Amino acid sequence: MTLDTTGLNRERNFFTTGQSLWLFGYGSLIWKAEFAFHERRPAHIEGWARRFWQGSHDHRGTPGAPGRVATLVEAPGSICHGMAYRIDADVLGPLDVREKNGYLREQVTLHFADGARTEGLIYLATEDNAAFLGDAPLDEMAYQIAAAHGPSGLNRDYLLNLAAALEDLGAQDKHVFELAKRAGDIQGEKRKR
Ligand code: SIN
Repeated sequence: MTLDTTGLNRERNFFTTGQSLWLFGYGSLIWKAEFAFHERRPAHIEGWARRFWQGSHDHRGTPGAPGRVATLVEAPGSICHGMAYRIDADVLGPLDVREKNGYLREQVTLHFADGARTEGLIYLATEDNAAFLGDAPLDEMAYQIAAAHGPSGLNRDYLLNLAAALEDLGAQDKHVFELAKRAGDIQGEKRKR
């Protein structure tokens, strides 16, 4: 698969043109919306787990020293909490560019706190995309995140902002909270030296 998914995503139109649609954010899209939306509501999706297994060569790292950012892996029985936005379809063009490093639009069912559900979109980076890094020991991932930076800023800030946003939502995510703790410890060690 090509590293730039912008062209592929243009073909992935799951929703009727002209109507608003729901987008579910589980990574930076939770805390860094920077796009127009009609409303936003905390939501969750089922059967997916958030993992820092996607490489970032364009935002939080560089081609020579990629960072790690969030994607989702299939995990029956798991729940992934995030933020749902009702958007117009023309917002997807700029989002495709933002998410171009391996993410593809996918259709999922979103669940809201009041029990309502609806079909929505996610940007998903699967293991067959060229930027996928996959699993690694937690400390190794934390060191990589603590060291990486790119045009959008420090990789550590992506992680810590996500952890803070999940806490604000009252959401549990062991993987993210443990990584954030370790990345914070690494930063503390560096300051002491
Ligand atoms: C998302 O936030 O939903 C996709 C991954 C990212 O941009 O961090």
